[in-house]
Amino acid sequence: MKLYLDSADLREVAEIAAWNVLSGITTNPSLLAKVGQTVEGFMARAADLVSGPISLEVMAEAAAAMVAEAKQLKKLGEQVVIKVPMTAEGLKAQKGMHAAGLKTNITLVFSANQALLAAAAGGDYVSPFMGRLDDNGAQGFQLIQEIKAIYREYGIKTKIIAASLRTAREVTDAALAGADIATVPYAIFQKMVGHPLTDLGIERFQQDWAAAQSK
Ligand code: G3P
Repeated sequence: MKLYLDSADLREVAEIAAWNVLSGITTNPSLLAKVGQTVEGFMARAADLVSGPISLEVMAEAAAAMVAEAKQLKKLGEQVVIKVPMTAEGLKAQKGMHAAGLKTNITLVFSANQALLAAAAGGDYVSPFMGRLDDNGAQGFQLIQEIKAIYREYGIKTKIIAASLRTAREVTDAALAGADIATVPYAIFQKMVGHPLTDLGIERFQQDWAAAQSK
């Protein structure tokens, strides 16, 4: 499973990109608003930091307007993938997007049927929101399992991006459920990298080594 960073904060992008673990980035309007960042400002730097796909979301709600907006977003960089909400208009927009040579990530997916529709319409990526399902008493990993089973059964090439992740455990669950990609917030990357036994192990090696040198 590949790892993307789910963020619009360039400091976070720079830090996690330096770990050599990133295959791409996803953003959304809420994340950009949270850090007071423009899409243009974000892309100007992020494109240098990460070489993989960068998902940018359209705000238009009608299919034709989505396609027009997507064409403008694509001018910001070759890596741009267009994030399109899972609506009837979003599905209608797929044809125009692909005719314009754009790749799409169909987002805000909460059911296997939505994922079937997203794939049938030609979405390159589909983003089921695990965390928001878990928040509401459902089980996000089960949705990933269902989508994976359906896509595998019918040879569907649309890539599954496990999104809206809240915990480090959800990253493991996404991998076990067969997600192609997990888009992980910065705070969860920080939880993934550490383990108390790793810290303790380093401390003991340092102490033993220092003791040996002073003999
Ligand atoms: O990429 C989608 C994701 O960022 C949504 O996350 O935390 O708003 O549910 P969240």
